[in-house]
Parts: sequence; structure tokens; C-alpha cells
Amino acid sequence: MPEWFVHAAWAVFVLLALTAAFFFTFTRGTLILRGLRPGPKSPGAHIYPIYEDMRLIRLIDWQPINSAILLFQYHRLVAMITEHLKRSDLRGGRVLITSCAFGNVIPKVADVALAGGAARLQISDLVHNELLNAQRKLGGAGDALELRQEDAASMGLPDGSVAANVIFFLLHELPDPMKLQVLNEACRVLAPGGTLYLAEFHRPERPLLRALGWLYFKTFEPMALALWHTHDPLPYLQAMPGLHCERRTLFFGNYQVITATRVAD
Ligand SMILES: C[S@@+](CC[C@H](N)C(=O)[O-])C[C@H]1O[C@@H](n2cnc3c(N)ncnc32)[C@H](O)[C@@H]1O
Repeated sequence: MPEWFVHAAWAVFVLLALTAAFFFTFTRGTLILRGLRPGPKSPGAHIYPIYEDMRLIRLIDWQPINSAILLFQYHRLVAMITEHLKRSDLRGGRVLITSCAFGNVIPKVADVALAGGAARLQISDLVHNELLNAQRKLGGAGDALELRQEDAASMGLPDGSVAANVIFFLLHELPDPMKLQVLNEACRVLAPGGTLYLAEFHRPERPLLRALGWLYFKTFEPMALALWHTHDPLPYLQAMPGLHCERRTLFFGNYQVITATRVAD
């Protein structure tokens, strides 16, 4: 084996190990340390520092990193949402994005919503810095933009007030009871004819992908695994009255986009 190849392999290995250590430190590692502290937990105790510290936000909010984290399926997931949004009647309505996400999903949804005639683009998140970062990415939204610092599990929005609600990879980072509260809230605020768009991890079909996924989630994001079993969002949404639900999966079942539309009166 040529010497340059051995050096290159080591360099790649060290880079990957350092990246994994970085993400572990600023995600699950911090949550483990927080859990050791005595006293009551705050509503944001489950939130990773990568969403709280502006320097970390700016470091990680880079499209290639976020595409790679989603195994280069990011653009396909966003397109599944925006294609459906384009076919919806958003004129004069409100489009809500519940919790910020890195990458271009927020600007892409905003573009489609405003081009479709939405009167208001509401972005909610528990973390102020995430809202500021979203605002930075949305230079053109102008007066239509409304930033809301609030908990997705208990929102201040009125019942039936939004034409669309986009939730991009939030559920897997939430404690299990909060997953259900967020789904309840997401549906409560849907206007008749309005649609919830839920992009998330899904239990992979292939055993090898499932084994790798299990290992990844056990190490970095243990709260995600409930989505494969006990907290699959689809049956939970289907059990709610007045919703028409559909699920599309992609990349060997590794990801899903669920749409849940409130049947018009
Ligand atoms: C959508 S999730 C993860 C998305 C994905 N990892 C990404 O960034 O592409 C991350 C966001 O959810 C927010 N968040 C977490 N729990 C929340 C809650 N209970 N209510 C509102 N926002 C929340 C965090 O502050 C963070 O901005």
C-alpha cells in the first residue's frame, strides 16, 4: 500500500473522529452534563448548545454540512414540502415554521409561501439566537415576517389560524411526552384546509441501514429512536379527528415527510 494512501486514510479518520467529538460535545454530551445538575428542568433543557450559541450557529449553518448530515437527501425533503405547498391555496393566509432549522429550508419555504400569496410568515422557536439567524437568512420577507419566541409544545397562536405549518426535524430531538404535545399544538393551529408538513427520520427498511441508524441515534440522539416504534407520528396523527394524513418515505425508508391536512368544514 503506498505511503501517501496510509497518510490520507489517517487524515480522513482523524477528521471524522474530531467532527464526531465536536458534535457529541455540543449535543448529547452537554445534555448528559445538564442532567446531572440538581433542581427542576427548564422547558429548554433538551436544547443543544449548537442552537443556542450564535458562534456555533454560524459555524454549523452551512448548507453542505447539513446536506451531509441528512445523507444528501436534504434538498429532496425540502422539495417534497415546497412542491406540495405550491399546490396549496395560501392566499392571504399565514404560513408557520415551527422551530428553526439549519440550511436553506426556511428561505425555500418562505419564497414559496410569499410567491403563493401568503400574507404572513411566522417563525417560532424557543431560542432567540435561532430566530435572529433565521431573520438573517430571510432578507426579503419584509413586513410579512413575524418572529415568535415560544415553546412548540404550548404555542400562543389561536386555534385554526395557519394555512400551513412546517416542522423540519424537530420531533427527534424532543423528550417523548413533548413530541406528542408538539403534534397536538401543530394540529390545533391548522385552519380548515391547512396542512402540517412534518419532515423526520423514519425506521429504515434495510437491516444494515437500520443497524447503522440505531448505532448513530444511541450515541448522538437517543430521543429519536422512539419515532421508529412507540412514537411514530403517523398513527398518532391518524387517530386525531378531521385530519387526512399521508406519508412518503425516501432513501430506503430512512426519512419521511408526513402531510396532515385538516379537512375543510
Ligand atoms: C428543528 S430542530 C433540528 C433541526 C435540524 N437538526 C437542523 O437544524 O437542520 C432545532 C431547532 O428546534 C428548536 N427547538 C427545540 N425544542 C423546541 C421547542 N420545544 N419549541 C420551539 N423550538 C424548539 C431549537 O431551538 C432549534 O432552533
